[in-house]
Amino acid sequence: MRKKIVAGNWKMNTTVESAPELVGGLLDASWPDDVQLIIAPPFTQLGVVAQQIQSSNIGLSAQNCHEKESGAYTGEISVAMLESAGVEYVILGHSERRTYFGEDDNLIYLKTKVALKQGLKVILCVGEKLSEREIDNHFKVVQKQIENTLCLFGKTEAANIVIAYEPVWAIGTGKTASAEQAEEMHGFIREVVANHFDNDFAEGISILYGGSCKPSNAKEIFSQQNVDGGLIGGASLSAEDFVAIANSF
Ligand code: 13P
Repeated sequence: MRKKIVAGNWKMNTTVESAPELVGGLLDASWPDDVQLIIAPPFTQLGVVAQQIQSSNIGLSAQNCHEKESGAYTGEISVAMLESAGVEYVILGHSERRTYFGEDDNLIYLKTKVALKQGLKVILCVGEKLSEREIDNHFKVVQKQIENTLCLFGKTEAANIVIAYEPVWAIGTGKTASAEQAEEMHGFIREVVANHFDNDFAEGISILYGGSCKPSNAKEIFSQQNVDGGLIGGASLSAEDFVAIANSF
């Protein structure tokens, strides 16, 4: 059985003052036992959120890390720092980091490598731009992103990677991929993973959908055979909506 995961990427939102209220809303709510809830606050809120969720089953993720273990990299955050703050997961390869911060597959691979080596689990984002889908290049683009990152690891390491398919044209736009489009790409990703590793391995890896996922569309998307949950942006900033999404399986 693949793990069902609903992860909230808070992006550059909340403060040390406002985060506890959002987390409090989650702690008061309930969702199925077989759904792993994960939240990814900004760096400065990790400490306070870690304390708050300590005795809950909510997982804590960071939104980024540096590719080096330590050293003179002013302003950067290492994996060891994240772990000492209570973090278990890190989101890497997000399209906003690829677009606004010039992160390419090689850098994402290096970050994934250091994160896995030091014991973090990685939520690895892939996804095509609208211009790439329009010329029917979306499968090729996503295949390359997977081959340049996940496929460079052995099975033991890769087993600690969760894939998030986030079509760039659906992020923060209100435009969701249809359930069919999501299923088509998720099935394709599983096939790429199976071809590189094997069927059993591919069957065990969780593939999340991200991009304007909300309570009104989560049920249909999550009902698809190859969709194992969601990576949620905007809707994760409301405890009510985020929990409603986790209750959509
Ligand atoms: P939205 O849910 O706001 O579209 O964001 C998706 C996303 O980028 C999650 O990482």
